[in-house]
Amino acid sequence: MQRIVVLNPKGGSGKTTIAINLASYLASRGHTPVLMDFDPQGSSLRWVRKRQPAQAPIHVIAAFEKDTRTTRAFQLRVPDVATHVIVDTPAALDPHHLPEMTRDADKIIVPVLPSDIDIHACSRCIRDLLLVAKIRRDEDRLGVIANRIRRNTLTYQALIRFLHTLGIPIVATIRDSQNYVRAAELGIGVHEMKSYVAQDDVAQWVPLVEWLARPAGAAPAPPGASSQDAGQAVGDGEPVGSGDGSVAVRAASRTLVNA
Ligand SMILES: Nc1ncnc2c1ncn2[C@@H]1O[C@H](COP(=O)(O)OP(=O)(O)OP(=O)(O)O)[C@@H](O)[C@H]1O
Ligand SMILES: [Mg+2]
Repeated sequence: MQRIVVLNPKGGSGKTTIAINLASYLASRGHTPVLMDFDPQGSSLRWVRKRQPAQAPIHVIAAFEKDTRTTRAFQLRVPDVATHVIVDTPAALDPHHLPEMTRDADKIIVPVLPSDIDIHACSRCIRDLLLVAKIRRDEDRLGVIANRIRRNTLTYQALIRFLHTLGIPIVATIRDSQNYVRAAELGIGVHEMKSYVAQDDVAQWVPLVEWLARPAGAAPAPPGASSQDAGQAVGDGEPVGSGDGSVAVRAASRTLVNA
């Protein structure tokens, strides 16, 4: 069983969209995914409840609920048949919860939007994953999804440069597409839409699926990555850039130039 955690404390970066579409992809390929929803908004839970009986089943665990009638372990119990557990996490997740949230994760996906504010928030998130949760980049457990991308924009280029500097792979680039909005309303994912409607979106999931299939530790760290410069590139325990996201990007770009 593979455990995949989707996180980024920045609200609206696409955590739920990635989590539900991944569950939909796996279910439609004959796997038995379980969605574990830690977000009190319950968006993943609501999405599963919209699914029709004809659609491939997806088990969901409302992990955000505090059920005093059972033990926490019982509440979070994953069915034996599960092939994957996909964890959808809330916005504003406290960094202190990162070690617990990522401890058993085979893969950690951080979706990030190509905006200055989001790049800045992402740099903090990655810093916390490396320094607080002690995720090592050479384990190939941590990947970023560039979400809602419009190529050839300056912020997209900045995002690419920034991530390259941190040595964190971009495991998928997902375009801004109304198909994600429509699919979410219907309780399906883009992989369950008619192929003439969603083939461009579906194609963008191939690198992600390949990365997920690769066991952790199977690949060398990307260029520019070493455990020592993890802290430096993201601020060595200091808040990353005290100002706007461009500070983080400039710091990251400098590291790249100096590498
Ligand atoms: N690639 C995309 N194309 C178009 N719309 C998208 C895309 N990804 C996400 N969205 C939309 O952006 C909004 C926020 O996405 P989502 O709910 O997945 O973010 P989130 O990180 O889970 O938010 P929260 O932090 O509140 O849980 C939703 O309306 C979703 O449909
Ligand atoms: Mg969400």
